[in-house]
Amino acid sequence: MAENRNGLTRVAFIGSECYPFIKTGGLGDVMYALPRALIKQGCEVRVIMPYYRCIPEKYKEMTTYKGNFMMDLCMDGRQFYVGIMEAEKDGVIYDFIDNREFFDWGNPYTGLWEDIPKYCFFSKAALAILNYMEWIPDVVHCHDWQAGLVPVYMRTLFAGTPIGEARSVLTIHNLRFQGICGIPHMKYWTGLPDYLFDYPVFKQNDDDANMFKAGLAFADRITTVSETYAEEIQTMFYGEGLNDHLWYHRTKLSGIVNGIDVEQWDAAADKLLTETYTADDVIEKKKLNKRALQEKLGLDVDDNKFVIGLISRLTDQKGLDLVNAVFERMLNEETQVVILGTGDPRYEGSFRYYESVHKGSVCAYIQYNEALAHQIYASSDALLVPSLFEPCGLTQLIAMRYGTVPIVRETGGLKDTVEPYNVETDEGNGFTFDRYEADLLLDAVERARDLFFDERGSWNAMVMRDMEKDVSWENSAGKYLKLYEELKG
Ligand code: ADP
Ligand code: GLC
Repeated sequence: MAENRNGLTRVAFIGSECYPFIKTGGLGDVMYALPRALIKQGCEVRVIMPYYRCIPEKYKEMTTYKGNFMMDLCMDGRQFYVGIMEAEKDGVIYDFIDNREFFDWGNPYTGLWEDIPKYCFFSKAALAILNYMEWIPDVVHCHDWQAGLVPVYMRTLFAGTPIGEARSVLTIHNLRFQGICGIPHMKYWTGLPDYLFDYPVFKQNDDDANMFKAGLAFADRITTVSETYAEEIQTMFYGEGLNDHLWYHRTKLSGIVNGIDVEQWDAAADKLLTETYTADDVIEKKKLNKRALQEKLGLDVDDNKFVIGLISRLTDQKGLDLVNAVFERMLNEETQVVILGTGDPRYEGSFRYYESVHKGSVCAYIQYNEALAHQIYASSDALLVPSLFEPCGLTQLIAMRYGTVPIVRETGGLKDTVEPYNVETDEGNGFTFDRYEADLLLDAVERARDLFFDERGSWNAMVMRDMEKDVSWENSAGKYLKLYEELKG
C-alpha cells in the first residue's frame, strides 16, 4: 500500500468547495478545517478542487502552475485540457484543476444540466492529476455528490493504475443534493460501461441516473457528519430516496460529527469584532458588541433587548417555515431578530417584510457576508437553528464558541452537539425541541427568553459554559484518522 517514506498517512481530499477560496456553506468550512486538524495529528493532506473563475484574485495569486495534460472524457473520448495550479497554506497543499470550459461559469454551481458534466470532468481529472503528480495517497476522501464519481472511477477506469490501489471514503454532507439526470446524459459524460447503469449502482428509476448513489455503492467506507444523521438517512423521512440503498450499505456507514476551526472562530482574536473577548469577560463585552451591531444595522440601541440571530442559507432545510409561522408571536417588545442569509425568494421576501413592519426590531440582511456573520455570532444572545433536517450544522457550534446560546431542533448534528438546558440541574448548552412544530419552536424561544430575563445568573453561566465547550476538530479528526488507518490495513 502506498505509504510515505516516514510512515505518515496520506490523504487526498476531493470536493467542490473549500474556504477561503470558495465557500457556499458548511462543506467549504469542513474542507478547510479538517485537513488542518489532520495535519496536526500527523497526516499528509492534499486538497483537490476546481480552479473556478469566481475564486477571488488574491487567492489565485497564491497559486503556481504545476503542469498540464489532455484527458479523455465522455463516451466518444473527447479530449479536455487539465491544468494544475498549486498553493500551500499552513502545511496543507491545495491542487486546483484548471479548465476554462467547465469552471468559468457559476458561483460556483450553475444548474444540474451543466454541473453534471462539470463534476464528471472534475472527478476524473482529480484522479488523473494524482497519477500525473505521482502522489498516491493511502485514502482518497471524497465529499458530497460532486466527488461521487471518484470511488466509481477508482474501481473501473483507474483500476490497475497507481491511484486505483488507494482506498476510498465518501462523506455525505447533505443527502438532499445527489447529482441526478437522465441516463443518456450521465452515460455520455461519465463514459462508463452499460453494466453500471443498473439499480445497484447508477440507476435511480427507469429514466434517471444518480451520481451520489453510484459513489456510495463503490466507496470502501461511507461517513456522514453526525451519528444521528447516519441513522436518520436510513429512514424514509430523511433518506431522500436513498434510504434503502444506505440501509443496504449500512455496515460501511458511520457518523463522525463535525468540529470547527477554533483559530478561524476565536472571539479572543477575531479582528472583525468591535470587542474581542474570552469566557472571563464575555458578559460585559457581548453588551458592547451588541450595541455596535444594533447601531450598524439600524436597530434600537438597547442593552436590554434579547437579540436572536439567524445565519443561514435560506432554504426549507433550515426550518424557516416554522420561523415564519411564529415570527409575530416570537417577536415581543423585549426582543430583536437579526437574519443574515440568501436563498429561496419566498424566505428572502418574508424576512424583508418583517423588517419593513418592525423597523428597529428586525433586520433582514439578505446577503452572504462573512464579516457580518462574525459580528452577529458575537453580538447575539441566542442563535436560532430550527432545521427540518441538519446533517451536522456548524452555526450552532460557532455560536457556542462565541458565547451565544443555540436554540435548535433535535435533529442530526444539532441533536448530537447541543445538550438541552436542564432547569433542575442547571446544566446544558442550549434550548431544544423535538417535533417539527411551530409551537414547539416558540416554546423553546420563550424558555430561553425567560431564563435570560428572569434567571440572568443561570443564563450567564450557560454562556460561559458554551464558550468553554470543546467544539474543535481534534476529537473527530482522530476518528477519521482511525478510519483511514483501518482502511490502510
Ligand atoms: P449548510 O452547510 O447547510 O449551509 P452549516 O451550518 O454547516 O450549514 O454551515 C453554514 C456555514 O455558512 C457557516 O460557516 C455559516 O456561518 C455560513 N453562512 C451561512 N449563511 C451565511 C451568510 N449569509 N453570510 C455569511 N456566512 C454564512
Ligand atoms: C451540509 C449540511 C450541514 C453540514 C455541512 C458540513 O451543507 O447541510 O449540516 O454542517 O454540510 O458538513
